[in-house]
Amino acid sequence: MSAIHVALLGLGTVGKGVLETIHTHQERLQFALGKPVKVTAVLVRNVNKHTIQDETILLTDQFEDLQLEKADVVIDAIVGVEPGFTYVRKAIEKGCHVITANKEMFAHHGKELMELARKHHVSIGFEATVGGGIPVIQTLRKLLNINRITKVEGVINGTSNFILTNMREKGLSFEEVLKTAQESGYAEADPTNDVEGFDAYFKALVLSHVVFGEVPKPEHTVRKGISQIKIEDINHATSLGLKYKHIAKLEKQGDVITCNVEPVLISNDHPFYSVEGVQNAVSIDADIVGNITLLGPGAGKLPTASAVIEDFLHLYQEQSLSYLKQQPLEV
Ligand SMILES: NC(=O)c1ccc[n+]([C@@H]2O[C@H](COP(=O)([O-])OP(=O)(O)OC[C@H]3O[C@@H](n4cnc5c(N)ncnc54)[C@H](OP(=O)(O)O)[C@@H]3O)[C@@H](O)[C@H]2O)c1
Repeated sequence: MSAIHVALLGLGTVGKGVLETIHTHQERLQFALGKPVKVTAVLVRNVNKHTIQDETILLTDQFEDLQLEKADVVIDAIVGVEPGFTYVRKAIEKGCHVITANKEMFAHHGKELMELARKHHVSIGFEATVGGGIPVIQTLRKLLNINRITKVEGVINGTSNFILTNMREKGLSFEEVLKTAQESGYAEADPTNDVEGFDAYFKALVLSHVVFGEVPKPEHTVRKGISQIKIEDINHATSLGLKYKHIAKLEKQGDVITCNVEPVLISNDHPFYSVEGVQNAVSIDADIVGNITLLGPGAGKLPTASAVIEDFLHLYQEQSLSYLKQQPLEV
């Protein structure tokens, strides 16, 4: 029986989670797909840092070694706009389906990659770029079949939420909590992307692509982080029964899409009031269904791998559906 061949870009938190899940859930995957899934090659920056138990998997630091002409799917779990964009573009041009977790790359190039994928008759999955393990993208797409979505709001940066929660609960300053967050792996050594709102902004751009088919103009965008919030501000808010949450909000009025990524004071009737620590939440307002709020792990090895593998299954289910649609009905 032939296998579905996968080339994996990156073997960090997400890449390891994907490799592990393909191994631990091989039987389930094979049952769902009718074929085994075989990771053939893994690309990293520094091969000396890594060992892979399965000796049939090629570990390389050279993109050309991946032999994409033999791959069916490329899973992108590397960091930053480049070389991620170039690699994903080449993979699509070689006829591979792509699944990416790389939100920064996808926020910048999502639209052109989706067009390129359409041109080459392949699919591109990007569930893992927003909300880690929460199935945000699939939910939005399902709703959009019939609903008009008017607003999407999210606590979509776990590091910021972790810091705000710990400042409030422990009475510590931003700097003190950031240091513990870095020590315990909840924040990067350079935390700028998270605490200045860039990460949430990139995710908001991806959501905007999905919901409105375009991104907000810079003049309709606000991007602020949490680094200016003082413990005195938090204590004062607490005394009034309020909490600071770092919220990314997308709204469309007429032809204008607005994007506000900033700390917001909320009261206990807000759906994000009890979203604490590294949890993420996304709230969707749609004209027929009303409000839906999704809550769950916004990052981490296995939650993110779950989103990647969900995309993988969805991709093949879509393929077989479109094949069936092309077959004449026998009566
Ligand atoms: N971590 C999460 O929970 C999470 C959740 C959702 C989405 N994401 C996104 O998923 C992606 C991966 O995140 P991560 O946390 O797994 O990152 P990570 O732990 O830093 O791992 C990144 C991996 O990519 C490899 N890599 C980086 N640049 C490369 C290059 N130029 N060429 C070849 N390989 C390269 C690294 O190789 P070396 O190991 O040799 O350095 C490493 O194995 C990022 O785009 C991130 O934004 C992460």
